[in-house]
Amino acid sequence: MSAVNLTTKIAVLGGGQLGRMMLQEVSRYHLNIAILDPSLEAPAAALAYQFEQGDFKDYDTVIQFCADADVVTIEIEHVNLEALKELERQGKKVFPQPAILEIIKDKGLQKQFYQERGIPTAPFRLVEGDLADHVDFFPCMQKSRTGGYDGKGVYPLKSVGDIDNALPGPSMLEKWVEFEKEIAVIVARNETGETAVFPLVEMEFNTEANLVELLFCPSQVSSDIQQKAERLAIQIANEMGIVGLLAVEMFVTKQGEVLVNEVAPRPHNSGHHTIECCYTSQYEQHVRAILNWPLGSTELIQPAVMINLLGAKSHAGKAHYEGLEEALKHPGVYVHLYGKSKTAPYRKMGHVTVMNPSLEEAKQVARELMNHIQVVSVDNSK
Ligand SMILES: Nc1ncnc2c1ncn2[C@@H]1O[C@H](COP(=O)(O)OP(=O)(O)O)[C@@H](O)[C@H]1O
Ligand SMILES: [Mg+2]
Repeated sequence: MSAVNLTTKIAVLGGGQLGRMMLQEVSRYHLNIAILDPSLEAPAAALAYQFEQGDFKDYDTVIQFCADADVVTIEIEHVNLEALKELERQGKKVFPQPAILEIIKDKGLQKQFYQERGIPTAPFRLVEGDLADHVDFFPCMQKSRTGGYDGKGVYPLKSVGDIDNALPGPSMLEKWVEFEKEIAVIVARNETGETAVFPLVEMEFNTEANLVELLFCPSQVSSDIQQKAERLAIQIANEMGIVGLLAVEMFVTKQGEVLVNEVAPRPHNSGHHTIECCYTSQYEQHVRAILNWPLGSTELIQPAVMINLLGAKSHAGKAHYEGLEEALKHPGVYVHLYGKSKTAPYRKMGHVTVMNPSLEEAKQVARELMNHIQVVSVDNSK
């Protein structure tokens, strides 16, 4: 375990909402953190002591941006990996490690990683050519091997007729899982190899947008499933040797199996509630892990429900928030707005965490707020 050195310079690639919340959560340590993002209006820009406008997908920009950093991290996976590898060769600490990012950013390689290690996951095929050759594998979920996020790179193939609208490019076909529940476990691992698992969360999805709509913790799965899920998350983190956070999305089947869906090597949507509802937030935990500080307690203080504030379906343009007054009336309701000036259908604009001693009450309040709060556009310019 290294001593707590507050002058370590951290370079963060990406300035989205995850970067913004990371800054918010560790601001009391007054760390030396710089953010790189192509947009001056990036959610993290306004809160960063140091902000550089630039493309994290560009080799030279990344090398130059990280030149005086001691530790390099990311808040988005789609960054220039060659640059990260070079920085690692130069002796910088790059967490999560580029070799791990390489596996995770390709859903095909990710699935192979699980398969080779006997980690339970749904059967899959890697495909490039004609999908008609794979109808014997239907029903399945087609997933773009790279670049997908927030349900944008997945497409259900149930019958031959679906092929016409399938995703272009190399993809991974994953057998359709008739899951009973979707859950996620976030685990942190520091350089020493210490791990800490956040309490399991359960998700409810908006099937139209393929986006998580409501998330709650503690999950209502059996303790047997909880243990299986936690063990799997720790196993994956250890086998990868990751330093930082690993969010593991899983399916629970009707037979009580736990199957790994995918992982993200960073703070995750399913951990927003940890800001108010756990002793240590996922954002602080990520920073503790990459600095090799002792990991914080992940214990839940009170039950939590989180809803994403997504841009309304047919609205695009300057963002306007309706119904926030209602949210502000309730005790234990925390509204987070990411400061994105423009909304778009289903764009993640913010989230609300409801904290309540009763999970049922928290869910009720969250559902009420879901109906009240709307992110619309005042000009609705497309
Ligand atoms: N094999 C599958 N069977 C059924 N539903 C799936 C399958 N894979 C993914 N899904 C659904 O689609 C959602 C998005 O898929 P995921 O692979 O997690 O992509 P993303 O990168 O967009 O999060 C999942 O959370 C789940 O609801
Ligand atoms: Mg996912």
